[in-house]
Amino acid sequence: MKIIIIAAHDPNLVIGNEGSLPWHFSEDMKHFKQTTSGFPILMGRGVFEELGSKPLQHRQNIVLSTTKNYDNVACYSTLEQAIEAIKLEEPSKLFIIGGGVVYRQTMKIAHEMIITLVHKEYKGDTFFPEYRSDIGHIWREINRIHCNENLSFIHYTRI
Ligand SMILES: NC(=O)c1ccc[n+]([C@@H]2O[C@H](COP(=O)([O-])OP(=O)(O)OC[C@H]3O[C@@H](n4cnc5c(N)ncnc54)[C@H](OP(=O)(O)O)[C@@H]3O)[C@@H](O)[C@H]2O)c1
Repeated sequence: MKIIIIAAHDPNLVIGNEGSLPWHFSEDMKHFKQTTSGFPILMGRGVFEELGSKPLQHRQNIVLSTTKNYDNVACYSTLEQAIEAIKLEEPSKLFIIGGGVVYRQTMKIAHEMIITLVHKEYKGDTFFPEYRSDIGHIWREINRIHCNENLSFIHYTRI
C-alpha cells in the first residue's frame, strides 16, 4: 500500500486559515476528486469537521481523533491503528488528506506527495511541514503540471 500525501500549499507553506482553506480553486477540487476517488482517505478531526462531519463520497473515509467517535466513518485514536486497519483491506494506495497535524505525523512514512502549489501568497494559521530543503536527497520531483496562472501540480516520490 502506497501512502500518498495530497495537499495544496502557497509559497510560504500556508494550507489553512481559521479552520478552512484560504482559497477556492475549482481546478484543484477537481484534481483532488479525480486523484483520490476509489481509494481510502485518512484525515484528522479538523478536516472532517471542516467537511461538516460528512464523509466524501466514492472513497472510504477514515478519521483520526482521541476525543470523538463518529458513526458515519471509521475512526481511530492512533495513526498506527488506523494504518493497520486500512492495510487489512489491501488497497493499492492510501491518501493522507490533512490537515496540518496529520501531515506532520505522516511525512516520514509517506511514499509520495502530490502537491498543489498555489502561486499567490495567502494569510494563514496552518502550515504544511517544511520539506523543500529535502528535495534532491529525500524527495525527487517526478512530474510537474502548470495548471494555470494560479496553480501547479507537483508529484514527488521518496528517493
Ligand atoms: N490546503 C490543504 O491541502 C489542506 C488540506 C487539509 C486541511 N487543510 C486545512 O488545515 C486546517 C485543519 O488542520 P489542523 O492541523 O487544524 O487539524 P487536523 O490535522 O485536520 O486534525 C487535528 C486533529 O486530528 C486528531 N489527530 C491527529 N493526529 C492524530 C493521531 N495520531 N491520533 C489520534 N488523533 C489524531 C486530533 O483530534 P482530537 O483533538 O479529537 O484528538 C487532532 O486535534 C484547516 O484550516 C484546513 O482547511 C488544508
